[in-house]
Amino acid sequence: MQMRFPEGFLWGGSVAANQVEGAWNEGGKGVSTSDLQPQGIHGNVVERDANSTGIKDVAIDFYHRYPEDIQLFAEMGFKVLRTSIAWTRIYPNGDESEPNEEGLAFYDRLFDEMARYGIQPLITLSHYEMPYGLVKNYDGWSSRKVIDLFERYARTVFTRYRDKVKYWLTFNEINMALHAPFTGVGLAGERSKQEIYQAIHHQLVASARAVKACHEIIPDAKIGSMLLGGIRYPMTCKPEDVLQSQRVNRDWLFFGDVQARGAYPAWIGRFFRENNIALTITGQDERDLQETVDFISFSYYMSGCAAAQPELYQSSRTNIMRMIPNPYLESSEWGWQIDPQGLRFLLNELHDRYQKPLFIVENGLGAKDVPTADGTIEDDYRIQYLQAHLVQVREAIEDGVELLGYTSWGPIDLVSAGTAQMSKRYGFIYVDRDDAGNGTLARRRKKSFFWYRDVISSNGAIL
Ligand code: BG6
Repeated sequence: MQMRFPEGFLWGGSVAANQVEGAWNEGGKGVSTSDLQPQGIHGNVVERDANSTGIKDVAIDFYHRYPEDIQLFAEMGFKVLRTSIAWTRIYPNGDESEPNEEGLAFYDRLFDEMARYGIQPLITLSHYEMPYGLVKNYDGWSSRKVIDLFERYARTVFTRYRDKVKYWLTFNEINMALHAPFTGVGLAGERSKQEIYQAIHHQLVASARAVKACHEIIPDAKIGSMLLGGIRYPMTCKPEDVLQSQRVNRDWLFFGDVQARGAYPAWIGRFFRENNIALTITGQDERDLQETVDFISFSYYMSGCAAAQPELYQSSRTNIMRMIPNPYLESSEWGWQIDPQGLRFLLNELHDRYQKPLFIVENGLGAKDVPTADGTIEDDYRIQYLQAHLVQVREAIEDGVELLGYTSWGPIDLVSAGTAQMSKRYGFIYVDRDDAGNGTLARRRKKSFFWYRDVISSNGAIL
């Protein structure tokens, strides 16, 4: 029996405004939190002045070169392209009463270009950035006012693009706020758990209000949550380790529970009590949260382990979560552990837990590509990684998981989020630019480009 991907499966790729667009101060755009992190999420937050620069200021210049890039995506047969709207292009400081028309017009042009090739946009409202004005003047998401400002922004773009965009996501990797509060919820400096969870609560309410607005304004659209699927296995079958893995998985599943079920899960009460967290949650907040997402999306790159006594094992912080390495798995050059079967496991877990359709909106291998003498890029390692994961996706579909689509991360090389490197490449399309910003920005098809094109045209049959 040949297992198949469903008819109409949404194959494509995924990028984010701050990692591709560049043009950081063009078109009336305001300064975003991402602009203040030129070294990436793991780097310092720096004030920008007229002389300071960062690799993301130009990124891969998608702001000016998107027609060429969309054409290349179309050549691979993309059905969907996930990107984000930079909030600062629409409301430069976050709290203006009127949106910036130039910013709105840019995304009109981008979505029109995608429509020419029949590529559906899947749009994240906030991907690892928010207007810096909201950090300076409101202390980020610690302020309830930011809920209203986000809702205004969401309503603006839903209304503007109601005929062009039918798939939406609220906050990228919303659980990341626990690990990088500045990037996630705009909280600068050291903050208490109480402060972080209160800001997260506001963001969850804002997410639910955006879901409601989307349902009202674009009734035929679907809007989802986006989780960093940081699955952890118990390091051993010792019951203490099993309980610990359940605990750390709940750290991120908490967000999915609220967004998919419409209320805080029962178990979080004890966690809050034991950590002296007492949130202000109004009756209206509880009613707002009841507006649940239509589907669950997530990123998946790696798995890890958890143990009750982590000091017994060597732990690593290779991404934004701390994980104990799994001795059965190999790692990428950046230490991310490669676990295709973990994706099947995660798909089944999420589907069982939420009983909603799923969407894999990020998956891929960050690797250094070395062009050969004739300029070709033989990225067999990338093909191997993606092939192994897609085989497990097909298994999960066969297991009964309802999956809307698959967008690999970074179908074109872009600036990495964690470390702001160009050399950590994910693309099917090579971009001539190095970590210091040198290069022509020319685009070139890698070997994986042709492989992915064939995967899509066969609807996965060649896997
Ligand atoms: C996800 C983010 O966490 O991982 C992306 O949503 C990011 O923005 C991706 O680029 C890969 O991480 P990195 O650090 O390799 O860019």
